[in-house]
Amino acid sequence: HELQLNLEQIEKGGYDHFMLKEIYEQPNAIRDTYRGRLLADEGIVKMAGVDDNIERIAKAKRILIVGCGTSWHAGLVAEYIFEDMARIPVEVEYASEFRYRNPVITENDVVIAISQSGETADTMAAIKLAKEKGAFVFGVCNVVGSSISRETMAGAYTHAGPEIGVASTKAFTTQITVLTLMALKLGKYKGTISGSDFRLLLQALEAIPQKVEKLLQSDKVIKEIAATYKDTRNCIYLGRGYNFPVALEGALKLKEISYIHAEGYPAAEMKHGPIALIDEEMPVVVIAVRKGHYEKVVSNIQEIKSRKGKIISLVTEGDVEVKELADHVIEIPETIESLTPLLTTIPLQLLSYHIAVMLGKNVDQPRNLAKSVTVE
Ligand code: G6P
Repeated sequence: HELQLNLEQIEKGGYDHFMLKEIYEQPNAIRDTYRGRLLADEGIVKMAGVDDNIERIAKAKRILIVGCGTSWHAGLVAEYIFEDMARIPVEVEYASEFRYRNPVITENDVVIAISQSGETADTMAAIKLAKEKGAFVFGVCNVVGSSISRETMAGAYTHAGPEIGVASTKAFTTQITVLTLMALKLGKYKGTISGSDFRLLLQALEAIPQKVEKLLQSDKVIKEIAATYKDTRNCIYLGRGYNFPVALEGALKLKEISYIHAEGYPAAEMKHGPIALIDEEMPVVVIAVRKGHYEKVVSNIQEIKSRKGKIISLVTEGDVEVKELADHVIEIPETIESLTPLLTTIPLQLLSYHIAVMLGKNVDQPRNLAKSVTVE
């Protein structure tokens, strides 16, 4: 038994929990995921699974993305990225809904299945259904040789390394990395992205890991925020555009490991319901990076403030406007708008982590949850 414990200690590499280790592994996990694919100097993206099927994928009338949990959130981020860069209409669906819906699918559709484990039963069933209907099915998995990676017709692995913590962290950011590379590649092939934008994006993506490293240094500030709000029973997360799915993912992380009720919403939807919940007891995490509807999000922040809600805001480095309004700010290094989710996600992971640890919860193995759900 003692040997077992020591082994686990070694596996955690000096971190208290796998989740924390995996959060800190993200700069390398993202680098490992784009290594050999993103060739910034040559101005190309190489991905065998896409290259071999480029015609089929680029000609898709529609891309359908399926997944569950955090993988579904990565799909939502990808929806914005694909539509923007490759101008292909995208729909994102929970695999569990898709499979029982008698969905309209044709040979002109490309289905992208996202799964860290590659074993999720609902996602697997969605793939089988899509294949039956003649769609081209592409997999984005982390576990090499997993069932989903074998069942799909082509794919691209995320090279995140083993993810042990039940709450997904590095799998999410590497899924977004792979999907961004894919969208860039398609955009270049189709000519929907200009040569100069393409190069700028490649360079910006290549610079993401060092910006994540920088962000991880704000851990102390995040820990203080966690200490302030750890006893809350509710929390709202708001974001817009590329960062709307990040708000959902931030809320999911908090629910999963701290058991605090959290809801993610697109910021503009606040007025259609969640605003009724806001009072001096309600912490609201607002992603307000300078690009992407900044002014509109600022006015949401004002609405929260006038109802005495507590504001924890993610802002671009050097921001002044939100700083004056918010109770707490976390600074996010500047990057191209479509890449901001790779950065804004990080502090939200740390916030949940610290709150859960402070509450004495089992961070790596939260109650009622499993790392991979192989049954319905
Ligand atoms: C479970 C895990 C989540 C994960 C989801 C999908 O619910 O607890 O962290 O996001 O399954 O898993 P997959 O392996 O398909 O990405």
